[in-house]
Amino acid sequence: MKYTLNVNGTSRTVDVAPDTPMLWVLRDHLDLVGTKFGCGVGQCGACTIHINGEATRSCMTPVSTVGRKKITTIEGLAADAAKLTPLQQVWCDSDVAQCGYCQAGQIMQAASFLKDNPKPADDEIDGAMAGNLCRCGTYLRIRAAIKQAAAMPAGKEAAQ
Ligand code: FES
Ligand code: FES
Repeated sequence: MKYTLNVNGTSRTVDVAPDTPMLWVLRDHLDLVGTKFGCGVGQCGACTIHINGEATRSCMTPVSTVGRKKITTIEGLAADAAKLTPLQQVWCDSDVAQCGYCQAGQIMQAASFLKDNPKPADDEIDGAMAGNLCRCGTYLRIRAAIKQAAAMPAGKEAAQ
């Protein structure tokens, strides 16, 4: 069945079964491989994307449920592809990543969280990020990067 999706501001059409998870639509049909497969059952956060700005597990989101909602992946988080968002820049400057596998999902989760919570306390950060697992244990650097982004003058815009 054909679906026309709004992905990173572009209209993209795919021909897939209605129950195909968005994770596989993005990776296998649209070549957007920044979104990662971890558990496939909504438990790790590696596959996190934004749907209408909200962090969403793409492995648990059938393509048939998305309609024309705005889908954003790590590749489209920055409005200008040549320039990282402030949050992404802090992430890089702080060397948050170790192997990197979980990090796109971590950033997508953090960006959505910061949009709604521009000045979070530590426990709010920990709560918001608790569902995003990192086998390399970069949790302290993730929390520090989110705090640093939140402290930037751009405030809420740090996430965008
Ligand atoms: S792959 Fe989607 S939550 Fe783990
Ligand atoms: S950086 Fe390796 S799994 Fe998170």
